[in-house]
Amino acid sequence: MKLIEAKHYQDMSQKAARFIIEKVNRLPAPVLGLATGGTPLATYQCLREDHENNGTSYKHVYTVNLDEYVGVAPDDNNSYTYYMKKQLFDHIDIPPSHTHLPDGMAEDLEAECRRYESLIERLGGVDLQLLGLGLNGHIGFNEPGTPFSSETHTVELTDSTREANARYFDSLSSVPSQAVTMGISTIMRSKQILLLVSGAKKADILAKLLSEEPNEDTPASLLKMHQDVVIIADSDALSIVKERGITY
Ligand code: PGA
Repeated sequence: MKLIEAKHYQDMSQKAARFIIEKVNRLPAPVLGLATGGTPLATYQCLREDHENNGTSYKHVYTVNLDEYVGVAPDDNNSYTYYMKKQLFDHIDIPPSHTHLPDGMAEDLEAECRRYESLIERLGGVDLQLLGLGLNGHIGFNEPGTPFSSETHTVELTDSTREANARYFDSLSSVPSQAVTMGISTIMRSKQILLLVSGAKKADILAKLLSEEPNEDTPASLLKMHQDVVIIADSDALSIVKERGITY
């Protein structure tokens, strides 16, 4: 794993955006794996600004998102489909037919999970997968204990994840209890992974993932088994790693 240190959230976001833009400019048909949540918000803002100011085009880009809530309609402002449109897709020139998220409204969720796996395969796999880091070490919605071999599947969200996401909803009880997520093995098949970590509240889990051997109780630690992972972390997120002199 390669660790890039950023000064603060904005610096992390600019570095991440530059990383993504380089792929978009270099590859003939890049497949970007995208993430939602608070962490990539300013990265998407940098991509929007770069598109506007420098004209970076996304006409040849394909995207697959990590996850979507079950039972939340795409036009609901809490869906990840809505988030992606508002934060990125509506502001760049990517053809809407090139953008993909799991369908959390599918009647047959198992069939939907299989469809999503085949879709990724048909696109030729993910060139660059963007990831945030859950407070409990989850990646996508792969909660602690998710098998290494898991592919796209439906998950029951843990209380800690529902509480962390309650800030976007009217109340904790309105946070969905299930989601469809790429599995660990789906994520591990990406050619390259970019993990973004920002803020003091992520310092503990970042230190844990860097210091532990890969294990399923800390899903992000499994990324150590991937040959091309880049972590961009800001100084608040790195505070415990530095304090304890953790090497990895
Ligand atoms: P966050 O979530 O970016 O909102 O901190 C990360 C995650 O839960 O994967």
